[in-house]
Amino acid sequence: MATIAVYSMKGGVGKTSLAVNLAWAAAALSKRRTLLWDLDGQAAASFILADGRKAGDEARAVIEKDLAPERLIVKTHIPLLDLLPADASLHQLDALFSELDRKKRILRLTEGLQRSYDHIILDCPPGLGSTSEQVMRGAALILMPMIPSTLSQRAFAEVRDHLTRHHKGGPPIIPVFSMVDRRRLAHRKAMAEAPDCPVIPMASAVEQMADRHAALGEYAPKSPAAIAVATLWRAIEERLAR
Ligand SMILES: Nc1ncnc2c1ncn2[C@@H]1O[C@H](COP(=O)(O)OP(=O)(O)O)[C@@H](O)[C@H]1O
Ligand SMILES: [Mg+2]
Repeated sequence: MATIAVYSMKGGVGKTSLAVNLAWAAAALSKRRTLLWDLDGQAAASFILADGRKAGDEARAVIEKDLAPERLIVKTHIPLLDLLPADASLHQLDALFSELDRKKRILRLTEGLQRSYDHIILDCPPGLGSTSEQVMRGAALILMPMIPSTLSQRAFAEVRDHLTRHHKGGPPIIPVFSMVDRRRLAHRKAMAEAPDCPVIPMASAVEQMADRHAALGEYAPKSPAAIAVATLWRAIEERLAR
């Protein structure tokens, strides 16, 4: 079982879209038993995959009070893909983890699920605090989406250095260019400077995920963005196999 986190200090960079699409790729393309764990109180991934869940405070109870995650996990319409949904009780997740003083809480919870799943994908809230510390201890790989620019590359390097300094031997942190528009000079320049960085193109098809309640691969599998996600997923699998 491998835990893969989609994390960034910033909001609105494509974390949730990428997390849902990678979870779909793991389940639908690789036929792996996959759990998407929505850690963001905004519950966007939960909305995409399981519309209509009532607001509650159980997501927090899983972390805080040993409510068994299995009690909250739901199947999605995608075979082999389950969801551990978020709710508004996760809005103060950083504060919760600080108070909790159990530094490996995410790791322990995912270990408890390892017999049921081949992959656990974490959709993280934005921020750099005790949640990202938990993720550094709990994930085998961290993907950090960023919209290409000189400033976001600087910010990426800073966050990566900060995290790796505090977590020697922590997981690799892999940048992913997100919402890429090749017509834009800044995007082309950033891509030229980091030619090995995976690229997810800007595509209106991605924006439709929340209205369609579906992963991109379900309704536009041949779109360039879906192909980019599938290619990234294969690269992740290869990296995990090493
Ligand atoms: N590759 C993309 N192309 C076009 N729109 C995108 C893409 N990725 C994300 N978006 C849109 O950008 C917004 C923020 O994306 P989201 O995945 O929710 O980011 P985050 O989880 O980092 O806040 C959403 O409206 C989403 O539909
Ligand atoms: Mg999100």
